[in-house]
Amino acid sequence: MATKILSIFGTRPEAIKMAPLVKQLEADPAIESVVCVTGQHQQMLDQVLDLFRIEPHHNLALMTGNQTLNELAARLIASLDDVLAAVRPDRVLVHGDTTTASAAALASFHRRIPIGHVEAGLRTGNLMQPWPEEMNRRVVDVMSDLMFAPTASSKANLAREALHGKVIVTGNTVIDALTLTTARIDSDAALRAELDARLPFLDGALPVLLVTGHRRESFGAGFANICAALGDLARTDKVQIVYPVHLNPNVRGPVQQSLGGARNVHLIDPLDYLGFVRLMQRASIILTDSGGVQEEAPALGKPVLVMRDVTERPEAVEAGTVRLVGTERGAIVRAVTALLDNVAERESFARRINPYGDGHASQRIVAALTKRPFAEFEAAVSADSGVSADASTQSVDAVSR
Ligand code: UD1
Ligand code: UDP
Repeated sequence: MATKILSIFGTRPEAIKMAPLVKQLEADPAIESVVCVTGQHQQMLDQVLDLFRIEPHHNLALMTGNQTLNELAARLIASLDDVLAAVRPDRVLVHGDTTTASAAALASFHRRIPIGHVEAGLRTGNLMQPWPEEMNRRVVDVMSDLMFAPTASSKANLAREALHGKVIVTGNTVIDALTLTTARIDSDAALRAELDARLPFLDGALPVLLVTGHRRESFGAGFANICAALGDLARTDKVQIVYPVHLNPNVRGPVQQSLGGARNVHLIDPLDYLGFVRLMQRASIILTDSGGVQEEAPALGKPVLVMRDVTERPEAVEAGTVRLVGTERGAIVRAVTALLDNVAERESFARRINPYGDGHASQRIVAALTKRPFAEFEAAVSADSGVSADASTQSVDAVSR
């Protein structure tokens, strides 16, 4: 009988990173795949579901404007319990560190359903940064019996916590999603032209600074500093800034107020994943506080400046593709200007190593779930990719239930 696996996710980044895995689960005859989206996000989630052609079996449509974490968590647990009762899965899969992930894990744990955590083991070591994600990812790992760690360093974090579940290093599924998407873009000139036509205002002569930002711990003073820094950079006329602004009103309000109508600044709505990947390809520098973008940009050979004081993704900092610049106005301006003025250094990022995997993380996860070896991917696994060779031969037989 097929194993029934219920994948639960609700935000844009979870959907992007779960999409390739859902496709693998759907294609496997040993698995009955059921998808529940919580709708923690709405428009930004639908963009991803449309692109990857995922039709959820359950859509809880829980998003409300400017939702508080407690309102959302309470509604998630109550609604998910009904889904768990109806589906009766053999296993639940959750992703990452959102409120959807921690609530889905807790609801599953209360029903004694085994939990697999995709993108397990990321840590900053500081509970308040990112907030509340560092707590979410820790509690999900406590409850999981299978932890799919993207890198050897995330596996080491989990080993230090002496958790009860089993850890399997897989690479990050974001590279699977990115590889599928760049293959589409790179092989189709008409698609590239169509995506570029969505940004007709871009000036071919000026370098593009691509910006994204949404972290809750930066609301208020942090965002004021970031916007002030972007204003300073735009006024130099050395760069054009493209900022797809997150739909959170705590981000949109201050960003519009501070930068709306500014010269060399283009504030646009969130792009769908195809459009955003194309824009990353066209960018000279990426300035972000996003987790996913920190993982994607190194694979595209782009320099990333991260507007945070700590990151749970140290591999890219070590590989030299990501630099932490904090949220202080002068520090952001200095870091961007230094890269703008040094084309050779900027271009050297294209030759640095992507530490987040080889695009086969989803296959590794499905192999582990079905207790099959996945020797066919061993050749692609190397220390450089951040995927440890032992991952390819692990079995889940010893998993405690
Ligand atoms: C959430 C996650 C964060 C993740 C981010 C990705 C938590 C606590 N936070 O943060 O970890 O990095 O998603 O983007 O789980 N909104 C819309 N339409 C959308 C999405 C959001 O209008 O499609 C607005 C709504 O007013 C919503 C607000 O944004 O209430 C905040 O959404 P929420 O999911 O609570 O938090 P994010 O800041 O997006
Ligand atoms: N992204 C997108 N459109 C945008 C901005 C980002 O598709 O306009 C993608 C990006 O490529 C990455 C993911 O969204 O895969 C990151 O999401 P976000 O920054 O919202 O969340 P985080 O990764 O910080 O949790």
